[in-house]
Amino acid sequence: MKARIRPMTAEDKPAIVDIVRSVREFSPEEVAVAEELLDAHLDAPVTSGYLVLAADVNGVVTGYVCYGPAPLTEGTWDIYWVAVDPGAQGQGVGRALMAAAESSIRKSRGRLVLVETSGRPDYARTRQFYRSIGYRQTGRIADFYSPGDDKLILEKRF
Ligand SMILES: CC(C)(COP(=O)(O)OP(=O)(O)OC[C@H]1O[C@@H](n2cnc3c(N)ncnc32)[C@H](O)[C@@H]1OP(=O)(O)O)[C@@H](O)C(=O)NCCC(=O)NCCS
Repeated sequence: MKARIRPMTAEDKPAIVDIVRSVREFSPEEVAVAEELLDAHLDAPVTSGYLVLAADVNGVVTGYVCYGPAPLTEGTWDIYWVAVDPGAQGQGVGRALMAAAESSIRKSRGRLVLVETSGRPDYARTRQFYRSIGYRQTGRIADFYSPGDDKLILEKRF
């Protein structure tokens, strides 16, 4: 699937929120936080610290990534959110989004990219996704999200 990766515009917001809602791994609370980050970006694209890229497939937004510089660090960046429409997953859109975010991070002289994800069985595919694009696990906080649901910290260095 050929996706054009471009900065998000205000018109993209409903489509992105729909995607986040339709991803079954995300809880309603997570959907709300994802939407807050989109609003923070749209309100102050430069100063909010949240950058958002959308994947555009023939004029239809099929995924997005939200990322930004980790406050009070030199060259460390966080990937806050990445999601692809369930109907378009497994076709290279997530990989293209992450490649574009990493390219923008490199241009801003970022050197370390961190991602947090869950150790739950239903996130196995997500973990495989990050592994396949070069992220390795650098930490695990047991029972972080809830008893039995660990937080995994993954990293990639340039
Ligand atoms: C994780 C996610 C963003 C990946 O995006 P995607 O477009 O589906 O992934 P891609 O098609 O670019 O796949 C890239 C790699 O991920 C892995 N992958 C993707 N789909 C997979 C599947 N169904 N099973 C196993 N591995 C898979 C593969 O290693 C693939 O590499 P390959 O194309 O060389 O085989 C997307 O599946 C998604 O939105 N998932 C739900 C939300 C989520 O978990 N977000 C991350 C929160 S921390």
